[in-house]
Amino acid sequence: MNYNQILVEIYQEISLYAGVGEPATYIPELCKVDPDSYGICLRTMRGTEYFMGDSDVRFSIQSISKVFSMAMGFSFEGEKLWRRIGVEPSGSAFNSIIQLEIEKGIPRNPLINAGALVMTDVLLSHLENPEEEYLEFVRRLSGTTDIQYNERIAASEREHGYLNAAIANMLKYYGNIKNDIERVLMFYFRQCSIMMSCRELSRAFVPFADHSHAFRFGNVSLTSSQVKRMNAIMQTCGFYDEAGEFSFLVGLPGKSGVGGGIAAICPRKYAVAVWSPRLNKKGNSVMGMKALELLTTKTEVSIF
Ligand code: DON
Repeated sequence: MNYNQILVEIYQEISLYAGVGEPATYIPELCKVDPDSYGICLRTMRGTEYFMGDSDVRFSIQSISKVFSMAMGFSFEGEKLWRRIGVEPSGSAFNSIIQLEIEKGIPRNPLINAGALVMTDVLLSHLENPEEEYLEFVRRLSGTTDIQYNERIAASEREHGYLNAAIANMLKYYGNIKNDIERVLMFYFRQCSIMMSCRELSRAFVPFADHSHAFRFGNVSLTSSQVKRMNAIMQTCGFYDEAGEFSFLVGLPGKSGVGGGIAAICPRKYAVAVWSPRLNKKGNSVMGMKALELLTTKTEVSIF
């Protein structure tokens, strides 16, 4: 497959969408990036990388971190994790609170904010030094030693994070958060603030694409069947109320973030990460979605 040529064609074709959408404004620090940045990196199972544009520029991974948190939580808790968090698509916005009340404090899935807050609580109960151990896991996954939190972005989100605070309070009311709410919120915002480039992200997602190998990174290990389940959740829940659309147009398991990043995997073939900060109304990168749609169309390979 001539991925280099395909990435060039994609770049030419998505230029039609330049300037469409807006970067997330509800986290003021997030807006301090060039909204017209675009980077992509595809990494094959053999370790060959194909990249273009701003593929080495680090950006705030935001909700893409929910995949890393899920991997850790699932590794620590096993099946009993799913008593506290569901595995159904929500069909609602990532920060919706309505369902949570109706379903008595059990979030629909781990990839919406409510689910990630419970997952963060799970991690806090298992880890001695949560912030350090989380970073260590992400560094191991991506093979990079200097990945960091962006404390300014985390603080900016805390300052404006009224809805997440409301969700955390409701979870606590229903007994689905054990630790201190403020501690949970700050750890969650730090996870979202992690800065990674497309090259680093694509590398971090390769282990999810190839679950014939053991998934073992420090104290986090998953069986091949657990990785399969994580991919199923990414497929059905990774894009909130646009998960159906992403399946329909792209056909790969993946996860988006309001920093404009999307990471996706093509099982046994590659992991890909794309970044472009302008978002559509559902909070997903306009150019990122289009680029991945073109990728699976041009390669004629998806999971379907
Ligand atoms: O909690 C939030 O609202 C953000 N830190 C993360 C949201 C996000 O990335 C949703 N993704 N599309």
